[in-house]
Amino acid sequence: MDILVVGGGGREHAIIKSIKKSPLCKKIYCLPGNGGIQKDAECVDINVKDIESIKDFAVSKKIDFAVVAPDDPLVMGAVDVIEDAGIPCFGPRKNAAVIEGSKVFSKWLMQKYDIPTAKHAIFENVEDAISYIDRINSYPIVIKADGLALGKGVIIAENFDEAKKATEDIMLRGAFGESGKKVVIEEYLTGPEVSVLAFTDGKTIIPMVSSMDHKRALDGDRGLNTGGMGTIAPNPYFTKEIADECMHKIFLRTMNAMNREGRTFKGCLYFGLMLTEKGPKVIEYNCRFGDPEAQVVLPLLKSDLLKIMIAVSKGELSESLVRFSEGSACCVILASGGYPAHYEKGRKISFGDIKESDDLVIYHSGTKAGADDVLYTNGGRVLGVTAVGNSLFQAVRKAYDSVDKISFDGCFYRHDIGKKALESISVKE
Ligand code: AMP
Ligand code: GLY
Repeated sequence: MDILVVGGGGREHAIIKSIKKSPLCKKIYCLPGNGGIQKDAECVDINVKDIESIKDFAVSKKIDFAVVAPDDPLVMGAVDVIEDAGIPCFGPRKNAAVIEGSKVFSKWLMQKYDIPTAKHAIFENVEDAISYIDRINSYPIVIKADGLALGKGVIIAENFDEAKKATEDIMLRGAFGESGKKVVIEEYLTGPEVSVLAFTDGKTIIPMVSSMDHKRALDGDRGLNTGGMGTIAPNPYFTKEIADECMHKIFLRTMNAMNREGRTFKGCLYFGLMLTEKGPKVIEYNCRFGDPEAQVVLPLLKSDLLKIMIAVSKGELSESLVRFSEGSACCVILASGGYPAHYEKGRKISFGDIKESDDLVIYHSGTKAGADDVLYTNGGRVLGVTAVGNSLFQAVRKAYDSVDKISFDGCFYRHDIGKKALESISVKE
């Protein structure tokens, strides 16, 4: 089969490397891809938001199956356009992608169907929002722009002045454009965070191995929020008991709720969970694989990803199709100095004597090939080094041994990916 993957980051690189192993796969195109993906797929420079051009490309190449990976095209309805042109596709249609595209929608859904989440209120008017904050008078308080905001639309305010400023920035000063016309204000929850990605075709939902993201830029969860600086899988906090509770109270309820709303979700549904003292609660939904969650979850998948994706799109997903290995994985992101704020591009990358293998993979997030076949940095997040091991300890050690071999001007990474998870395992033992 000729496959098209829409996107151009580490997540897409992981999806492509996994699909490539399928005996069904003949050729992969990636739009727009990047300098590293280029070695695994034919990259064509079409923007992920240019849905008409993506559809025209897919039709002209007689693509057999398409995968739309990033949030923007999913929320804009890329799957509808590609499927309606006769090409089967993995990913939710627009009316289901709204589960990520609008936090107002997702909070409404959770309330209506009794899915555990933080207590909240929704506002379209800035004065009402601010007087609500004043009345609640409990800090920290969480303020979220309704729409997509590159993972930056969540502000945790420590006092009234910060909360007022954040609300005004979002609603009056357009910090996140149209995404901030409405805001969700919610209670601050505490507890370990878990990411669970699940395959679903609307009838069956199969959670993948759990993972843990590290969202802040700096060691010890300091610094600004980023798209994610590293991940580990499985997440040791997500015990069998908690997984069973989530299956009943969160995963199945969400799938059924979407069906009842006439918004059947097919694709990868991402549950961002917080394990609070009062039980697991949903922090956010995403309508896609997480990045860098995909870079630790997919290397542990033993089954044929392409077969699973085809089954999802046909509504034929079954338990027997999805198997994970017992091992662990760790992904450390190497980023450009300054990220997630201002950073430079175009720095030459040296890979030293690093050797990739089944257990050690370098996923490219923001790289570009120069004329000399040398790779240059081309984004905030540049590379993700994933190692797989029999234990989390082994995976973490192996990932960091390799990270030290890679260098580029301004390169930085967190030194404590997996540290909390390893500490929690040693407490249990
Ligand atoms: P989101 O973009 O919704 O994933 O939010 C980004 C991060 O903000 C999450 O990973 C949490 O660490 C934090 N966050 C979001 N909502 C809450 C909440 N209600 N309480 C505490 N932290 C939160
Ligand atoms: N790593 C978090 C996300 O993909 O949204």
